[in-house]
Amino acid sequence: MPTIQKVGVLGCGLMGSGIAQIAAQAGFQTVVLEVEQKYLDKGFAGIDKSLGKFVEKGKMTAEQKAEVMGRLKPTTSNQDLADCDIVIEAIIENKELKKSTYAALDKIVKPDAIFSSNTSSLTITELSMATSRAKQFVGLHFFNPVPMMKLVEVVRTIVTSNEAFNDTFEFAKKLGKEPIACRDNSGFVVNRLLVPYLLDAIRALEEGAGSIEDIDKGMVLGCGHPMGPFTLLDFVGLDTTYFITEVMFEEYREKRFASPPLLKKMVMAGRYGRKSGAGFYDYSGEKPVAMDSKR
Ligand code: CAA
Repeated sequence: MPTIQKVGVLGCGLMGSGIAQIAAQAGFQTVVLEVEQKYLDKGFAGIDKSLGKFVEKGKMTAEQKAEVMGRLKPTTSNQDLADCDIVIEAIIENKELKKSTYAALDKIVKPDAIFSSNTSSLTITELSMATSRAKQFVGLHFFNPVPMMKLVEVVRTIVTSNEAFNDTFEFAKKLGKEPIACRDNSGFVVNRLLVPYLLDAIRALEEGAGSIEDIDKGMVLGCGHPMGPFTLLDFVGLDTTYFITEVMFEEYREKRFASPPLLKKMVMAGRYGRKSGAGFYDYSGEKPVAMDSKR
């Protein structure tokens, strides 16, 4: 397996742009693939903004920021990924699209390169089977916001080779992250614990245990969480959370992973959270206002 020097990132959305950013920050030449230039423009604007915050705070100089940006190569051509040593996929959570993307790249990217996926709930084993390199296929699950969150879950399937797993684990450290080793069980470690907790917060709300703000305040002040469950749900995206619950419930058939009716209705109503302007809170004003607020 080659030493990882060049990184390919598929997708320049919230997660893909964050992954590309930290790879370039860590000194890797990084190619970022999108289907259309407009998605690259949007993602690169986000990277510019995030790096700008580090410059503002004196954590990085303007020259260093320019160097990081210089290591990032945006592209809409699969061919530009041919000589990457690792390809990290962070496109939308659509299993068939992911599989066809890997299958196409399998023929283009050099045969000893590692393929990895940032999926949060889909089965790495199934995705790996779309390629001829299942032994070199490793899950690499980052957390939002990628430049700030220290953790990466490194996921091995029953066919992943020790060498590919160890190389990917070491690569995650070079990205400045703290990796943990996970098996390919739906939701890995973090979402297996986080998702039932978030769903339980919605059930507590449905049952009238407390208001949105009070439940959030309870977990922030009572347990030291950086965000309460409803703020976090809005941050992750209710559509994303709903999708994850569907996959996890399908896998485990356990009530703790089943979506509460309110979550489904929020998604039906287009209240996806921060990204759509409203979720459990409304973000149109100066301060977020909880949807059950009487004030
Ligand atoms: N780039 C650069 N800097 C950033 C940034 C970014 N993308 N996002 C936040 N920051 C910086 C801010 O500028 C700020 O810097 P200073 O402290 O130096 O001023 C710092 O981070 C803190 O930000 P804020 O003051 O805005 O707010 P905060 O203190 O609440 O921190 C947070 C923000 C880091 C997001 C924090 O609230 C947090 O850790 N929240 C929990 C996030 C979480 O749980 N993420 C996991 C979600 S689950 C997931 O991703 C997996 C899945 O599969 C669903």
